Amino acid sequence: MNDKFQKATIDGQKITAYQLGKSSIEWRNGAGTTSDGKDTNSSNQPTRKITDAAESIIIYFSRSGSTELLASKIEKETNADVLEITVKDSYPSNYPKTLDRANYERDNQDYPELNMELPNLEQYKTVYLGYPIWAMTLSHPMHSFLNAYGSQLSNKRIAPFMSEGGYGQGDSVQVVKEILRQQGAVNNTFTSALVVDGNKVDRADKQVNDWINR
Ligand SMILES: Cc1cc2nc3c(=O)[nH]c(=O)nc-3n(C[C@H](O)[C@H](O)[C@H](O)COP(=O)(O)O)c2cc1C
Repeated sequence: MNDKFQKATIDGQKITAYQLGKSSIEWRNGAGTTSDGKDTNSSNQPTRKITDAAESIIIYFSRSGSTELLASKIEKETNADVLEITVKDSYPSNYPKTLDRANYERDNQDYPELNMELPNLEQYKTVYLGYPIWAMTLSHPMHSFLNAYGSQLSNKRIAPFMSEGGYGQGDSVQVVKEILRQQGAVNNTFTSALVVDGNKVDRADKQVNDWINR
């Protein structure tokens, strides 16, 4: 693996973010971005850092590493716990195949089955929710996560963060709110969203810190 993609670690594991360092022309707003085909860096385990003391947790999904790199920056600043969302059937490394699958899932409201266990979330006051934007909305693994566990996010402050292909956050935050409501979560407050282009996450430290301190 080219070292230029290995920009950080999370919970001691290397992060490979495939979009970094690409010029706008090469990047094509994220279209064509490959991944390791496992949704998590292939030599790594899904990230799961759970402590007794933390009052915040970062819960995220990332296919090609950019959202994971963003999660690692938030973790370094806040020392929050971390939980990676994983699905039973990973998305393909090939971009067009991932797009086909994502389009099918969205058209059929057929969101992926999760492959993870949820820790007890009672201790956390803030939940940083991280996801890539797909089709100008919430990517599907986060959809599945909130459908399954949204009711356990009652009384928490939700801080949404995302990486995207240059077209912005779409309606993703409204969708998060809507699923939480459907699942019976109550008393949530929301911070503003952190939105970063997927090929620029390695240069987003100031943006991340300003967002956290706000
Ligand atoms: C299936 C799919 C659909 C996407 N749709 C959009 C989109 O509508 N708007 C956008 O700005 N980026 C879109 N992207 C680009 C991703 O949001 C961007 O590459 C993101 O940084 C990927 O994050 P990750 O590396 O954490 O997986 C899409 C990517 C995929 C795989």
